[in-house]
Amino acid sequence: MMITVKQLKDYIGETISLRGWISRKRSSGKIQFIQLRSAGSFIQIICLKEQLGEECFAKIKKAPVESPIIVTGKALLPPGRSEIEIHLESIKIFKSSSDYPISKKTHGPEFLLEHRHLWIRSQIQTKILKIRSSLEYACICFLQQEGFYRMDAPIFTPSACEGTTDLFEVDYFGSKAFLSQSGQLYSEAGISCLEKVYTFGPCFRAEKSKTRRHLTEFWGVEPEVAWLDAEENIILQERFIKFILSKVVKECADELISLGRDPESLIFDNQSFPVLLYDEALEIVKKGGFEMQWGEDFRVEQEEYLSSQFATPFFIFKYPVQCRAFYIEPAPDQSELALSSDCLMPGGFGEIITGGQRTASYDFLLQRIQEHGLSQQDFQWYLDLRKFGSVPHSGFGMGIERMTRWLTGVKHIRETIPFPRTLKRFSP
Ligand code: 4AD
Ligand code: MG
Repeated sequence: MMITVKQLKDYIGETISLRGWISRKRSSGKIQFIQLRSAGSFIQIICLKEQLGEECFAKIKKAPVESPIIVTGKALLPPGRSEIEIHLESIKIFKSSSDYPISKKTHGPEFLLEHRHLWIRSQIQTKILKIRSSLEYACICFLQQEGFYRMDAPIFTPSACEGTTDLFEVDYFGSKAFLSQSGQLYSEAGISCLEKVYTFGPCFRAEKSKTRRHLTEFWGVEPEVAWLDAEENIILQERFIKFILSKVVKECADELISLGRDPESLIFDNQSFPVLLYDEALEIVKKGGFEMQWGEDFRVEQEEYLSSQFATPFFIFKYPVQCRAFYIEPAPDQSELALSSDCLMPGGFGEIITGGQRTASYDFLLQRIQEHGLSQQDFQWYLDLRKFGSVPHSGFGMGIERMTRWLTGVKHIRETIPFPRTLKRFSP
C-alpha cells in the first residue's frame, strides 16, 4: 500500500510503499543503504543483496543520486532508535542523470547559490524550508484567530514607505513606479473597513550593504489595528512572538534539534519581555564601550551588543523622532520622542520587528511629509486616510527570514528563503 511519510509511524511492522528521491547512498559489500527523501523527511532504506537478488542489487548500485524511486518494504523501528527504517523488498527506479553537481564534498557558498534550485534538496536546506513554512503558517494562524483579515497590498507603488534611499525603481509604461518596501501604508487604509488587518507579502529594499541579515527581497508580515495605541501594540507583539515560537517548536522539534537548536530555549511562554526606553538602551550601549550620541539610531554592532545582554526577546521604545519613519506619532508629552518600538531577539541577534503608533493628524502628517522632502501628491491618498475618519492606530512588521534565521540559527539570512535575492544575486 502506498503511504506518505507522515503515515509511516502507523505502519510499523507492515509492508508499505513510499515514493521519493535517492538523497544519498552508501554500500558495504552485500548491503546498501539508501537515504530516501520524501516530502521533507529523510528515511533510511536497507537493501540486502541476499533478499533482493543480484540483478536488483546491481540496479540499485547503478542508480545515481536524485533518481526518483518507489520502494516497497517492511517498516521497522529498531530497538532504542527513534527513526523508522524500511527493509527493502522491491524497488522501481526512475531515470536521472549521473552528473548531479552537488556532492558530499563541501562546496563554496557561490557554487551552492548558483545551484540553489538543487541545493534546496539537501537535508539542512530542506529542514530550514520546512521550518520557514511552519513559521508562515503560525503567523497566519495567530492573526486569523485574533480576528484579523488578510489584506494583500500592491507590489507596484507610487511612493516610499520606509525612506527613499533603498527604493527599487521600475518603468511602469513610461511612469516611475517603485517596488513595495512594506505593505503598511495600504493596511492603514484597510483598518477603516476591516479594523484588524495584516499584509503578508514580499518587500523590496535596494540594500547596498552586504550583511548576513539583509536581503533585497524579503517577506513581511505586517498587522495593523484601529484604536490600538503604542503600548497595546507592544503587548500584541509579545503575544504574537510567544504564539508563533511555540507553534513552530511544537511542529518542527525534530528539524530544530537536527539543526543544533534546543527547542526549549526557543520558547518564552512564561516570561515577560522587558521594555526599555531608548534612553536606557543608549546607556547600556555606552557602558558597553560604544560611542553614540542621543538621536542616533543603533548600528548593527550596537544592536547585537544590546541583544547579547538579554535572555528573552525585549523592546526598545520611544526613539528620537529623527531615527524613525515620517508617519510615526510623537509622544504626547515629549514631542522629540516617537511612539515607535523595535523588538530584538536575545543572544546577540538584533532586530526582528519594528512597530509603532501612526499619526492620526492630517496637519502633522503633512508637516512630516514636507520635512522628509516627500511629494505631497504621491502621498495624497495616504493623507486622505487622515481626512476621512482617522483614529489612533498602530501596527508592526516582522521579516519572515529574520525569524527563520533566529529559529534555525543559520549564520546567513540567504539560507532562510528558497531563492535569495541579494546585492549581487538575482538568479536562479
Ligand atoms: O523595520 P522595517 O523597515 O519596518 C517597516 O517596514 C514597517 N513598515 C513595519 C510596520 O510597522 N508595518 O521592516 C520590518 C521588519 C524588520 O524588523 C525586519 O525583521 C525585516 O522587516 N526586514 C528585513 N529582512 C530582511 N532583509 C531586509 N533588508 C529587511 N529589512 C527589514
Ligand atoms: Mg526596523
